[in-house]
Amino acid sequence: MSQIRRVTLITGASSGIGKAITLSLLQAGHEVIGLARDFSQFNSDNTLFHPISIDFSKLGALPEKLQAINKRFPAIDSLICCAGKGQFGSLENFSYDQIEQLMALNFTSQAFVARAFIPTLKQKERSNIIFIGSEAALAGSRKGTIYCASKFALRGFAQALRDESARSGLSVSIINPGMVKTNFFSELDFEPGEEPSNHLIPEDIAETVSLILSSRAGTVIDEINLNPQNRVVQFKNRKPKN
Ligand SMILES: NC(=O)c1ccc[n+]([C@@H]2O[C@H](COP(=O)([O-])OP(=O)(O)OC[C@H]3O[C@@H](n4cnc5c(N)ncnc54)[C@H](OP(=O)(O)O)[C@@H]3O)[C@@H](O)[C@H]2O)c1
Repeated sequence: MSQIRRVTLITGASSGIGKAITLSLLQAGHEVIGLARDFSQFNSDNTLFHPISIDFSKLGALPEKLQAINKRFPAIDSLICCAGKGQFGSLENFSYDQIEQLMALNFTSQAFVARAFIPTLKQKERSNIIFIGSEAALAGSRKGTIYCASKFALRGFAQALRDESARSGLSVSIINPGMVKTNFFSELDFEPGEEPSNHLIPEDIAETVSLILSSRAGTVIDEINLNPQNRVVQFKNRKPKN
């Protein structure tokens, strides 16, 4: 990690991957503005951490709230867009509202965050946006129509924004993890296998973020895919499948 103190806004900072990234940046002495709905399980008295409660599913209220955060923290020089959730099933089992809501949370709200901060970030000598995509951004698979679509959208957005930002000091990257052991699976009917090689851990993604943030100015790590060595999916009421 570079010695310069970064001021990073992280969406989805209250748990899982976003929380691990937050803790790793705080430990390295950086300042973090964390956005999520509920920080009651996040115990930190670090004065460099600023948790802010926000609901990304309420798109209409976002522009004003994001503008206020931008005004309060003008030194923000990096965004990590991590908020999101998994919802899987055959398309016919999704209501029209559920389709709209999943796209709003996983894609549109994160595009709003980028939109709100991009003018400030482009003015900085050095700045970063890192999106947390998914293996689902790389290939569609059954029961993943809407989740895959939301992550493909995020990846296309990241690639286009990376190109659009090439003449500024802003680097845009996307990390596409395979299965990471987090609360993501708590309401799903499947989860990664228990063995350490069956899943990633949130700290793996935090390390990847540190690598991107500390890369030499003038280089961009466009995209990183990372996966467990031996991916195992287990269905909560069935036997493991390799
Ligand atoms: N776990 C995996 O296997 C995996 C793999 C690839 C990619 N990902 C992606 O990684 C990201 C983080 O997932 P995770 O595994 O860390 O799961 P997680 O532990 O469930 O974390 C999800 C985060 O998103 C926030 N969030 C959810 N709904 C929100 C809303 N309406 N408004 C504001 N914040 C909201 C949550 O905060 P609150 O609940 O406090 O609002 C939480 O901080 C997601 O985008 C996910 O798609 C996960």
